[in-house]
Amino acid sequence: MIDQGEIVFMERVSLRYREGVSVLKNISLRFFPRSFHFLTGSSGAGKSSLLRLLYLGLRPTAGTLKVFGTDIQQMSVKQASLLRRRVGVVFQDFNLIEHLSVLENVMLPLKVRNEPPSARQEQARELLSWVGLEDHVDALPLHLSGGERQRVAIARAVIGRPDLLLADEPTGNVDDKMAQKLFHLFDGLHKMGTCVVLATHSRHFVDMFPYPELYLEDGRLTPHIKQQPERP
Ligand SMILES: Nc1ncnc2c1ncn2[C@@H]1O[C@H](COP(=O)(O)OP(=O)(O)OP(=O)(O)O)[C@@H](O)[C@H]1O
Ligand SMILES: [Mg+2]
Repeated sequence: MIDQGEIVFMERVSLRYREGVSVLKNISLRFFPRSFHFLTGSSGAGKSSLLRLLYLGLRPTAGTLKVFGTDIQQMSVKQASLLRRRVGVVFQDFNLIEHLSVLENVMLPLKVRNEPPSARQEQARELLSWVGLEDHVDALPLHLSGGERQRVAIARAVIGRPDLLLADEPTGNVDDKMAQKLFHLFDGLHKMGTCVVLATHSRHFVDMFPYPELYLEDGRLTPHIKQQPERP
């Protein structure tokens, strides 16, 4: 874990897909360690695009983006891949590796860090059991429901206690009870030091937690003043 400096620095960033219109316009923001940010806005507002920029999957068309203090314009492919190891991601399409079992998918971030196989297994099994997938550890992702796949992606994203967690509509496919549990998992991770950026349409959860909301509208970011939060 790093304990000082900005995790993300964005200054007047814009993004355009090829010759299309600007999807993100002039966005400036800072994310610090141990912070939690909700990213909201209607469908097509640019939430996933913003998260893709932070995962270094896209480059801004204009502006400055630094992740973990490094300007992405000066970043080599090797550096980018090393930085990604400090980032947990839950994409909207989950991005599971289809020929690996559920357990193997979840263990991947620990394997990349060369943690011993017994420790990897133990942690992955414990987490999978916590998200209700103890009976599916040996299954292939193909044989799981949408909500089950989503929980595998979440387990894989959080298992290494990343410095930055990018979660794109991470509870869109699960029931309310599981969603509640998962939001508390993200909150717990944040309290242990992870910077969490969570895109969601779930008004209920945005209002439940006392964290700032970044609202995207027509590619521009506006901080939202939230109502007094309910107790989680
Ligand atoms: N690869 C791409 N090429 C061209 N345009 C794209 C691409 N990906 C997204 N877009 C466009 O960029 C805009 C923002 O898309 P994005 O997926 O970031 O929205 P979103 O806020 O995540 O929406 P949702 O809530 O539906 O997930 C949309 O108009 C979309 O059509
Ligand atoms: Mg999206």
